[in-house]
Amino acid sequence: DVIDVRALTAEGRYTFDPGFMSTASCESAITFIDGEKGVLLHRGYPIEQLAENSDYLETCFLLLYGELPTAEQKEKFVNTVKSHTMAHEQLKNFFNGFRRDAHPMAIMCGVVGALSAFYHDSLDINDYKHREISAIRLIAKIPTIAAMCFKYSKGEPMIYPRNDLGYSENFLHMMFSTPCDGPTPKISPVLAKAMDKIFILHADHEQNASTSTVRLAGSSGANPFACIAAGIAALWGPAHGGANEAVLTMLEEIGDVSNIDKFIAKAKDKNDPFKLMGFGHRVYKNFDPRAKVMKQTCDEVLAELGINDPQLELAMKLEEIARNDPYFKERNLYPNVDFYSGIILKAIGIPTSMFTVIFALARTVGWISHWKEMLAGPYKIGRPRQLYTGKAQRNYVEIDKR
Ligand code: ACO
Repeated sequence: DVIDVRALTAEGRYTFDPGFMSTASCESAITFIDGEKGVLLHRGYPIEQLAENSDYLETCFLLLYGELPTAEQKEKFVNTVKSHTMAHEQLKNFFNGFRRDAHPMAIMCGVVGALSAFYHDSLDINDYKHREISAIRLIAKIPTIAAMCFKYSKGEPMIYPRNDLGYSENFLHMMFSTPCDGPTPKISPVLAKAMDKIFILHADHEQNASTSTVRLAGSSGANPFACIAAGIAALWGPAHGGANEAVLTMLEEIGDVSNIDKFIAKAKDKNDPFKLMGFGHRVYKNFDPRAKVMKQTCDEVLAELGINDPQLELAMKLEEIARNDPYFKERNLYPNVDFYSGIILKAIGIPTSMFTVIFALARTVGWISHWKEMLAGPYKIGRPRQLYTGKAQRNYVEIDKR
């Protein structure tokens, strides 16, 4: 009676591809990656050009609608997003249910999922207008919710969005202003620009774990807020979006340049689970083009703030040693985008626990663009098979006979 599933697989009924190393789960026109050459294009435009010349909301428009906006389209889009930045007042009550020391990603999973309880006019996934308004709401409200997480953790009053400010400037305002400040202190344009670049560099990255999660959740017909909450949960893991937080924790653990060799040896030891956080990528096997832009931004921010950060020195030394080490060379392990983003965020004054939240904020547009793309075309519910390795069929045994 043995069901030989291995034989079924061998017969070609389905393929066995753990980690989806060589399986394309969908067709998509949003993002192209050539991992060997270190190329990343959004709707055909190189990430380096977007980071240099575009701004985050323009990049959002590009990802969502496929083309760069005209001046008129851009103004309309920016104004529409700005008109949705307020979070429902009752949403504030959710925060009081969390401990002050809760991880902000735990709060994000709950509060973003709860948006579906507030915006009933954007839940019908078969209605184009509902899909549009939910996309705008998510892009507009997630920075507000992210800043609310931060303020809650500090025990400070939450700050309302200011729609006369740009997207990134407003985010920094909600994070760092206090009601006692009087007029909002001027946010440094260099820091606002750096924040905007971080958002652009994280905006989309085709079928990574969190985006695939959003598509899979969406394929069942789940509402957009539930799907994005699922994406946030998947992003939290240290092998994915949690890596930027893990990089800083690792640098703190290494502590001093003199300890680098010891940690490099740990990373190479197959009996030790330790990995160099911020190194390696499933797709990039040459270099991560986002890391190059991020490193340059890192230099600009530290120069603007006049920071001589010993942790940055440590990071640079670590990178240099790893770059010349045969173990890392043979396996094509290069610093990824998360290696530098943590250093910039720390310099801006954002605490480590908020790093992955910033990533989630930026990636929301990628998730929602993929969700919209999927719903706009023919799709099937995502339902992979498995390679069964359990018991063969057997008969139930009464409890007194076991
Ligand atoms: N430190 C030490 N060794 C590593 C590292 C690392 N950071 N990354 C990979 N390796 C080794 C593996 O042990 C493996 O060695 P082996 O061939 O001797 O068994 C080899 O390099 C290949 O690695 P895999 O784990 O098979 O690569 P995979 O594509 O499955 O994993 C991943 C990619 C998850 C990103 C991995 O490199 C990693 O864990 N890096 C650290 C975490 C990190 O920075 N994540 C951020 C990813 S980018 C992002 O989400 C924006």
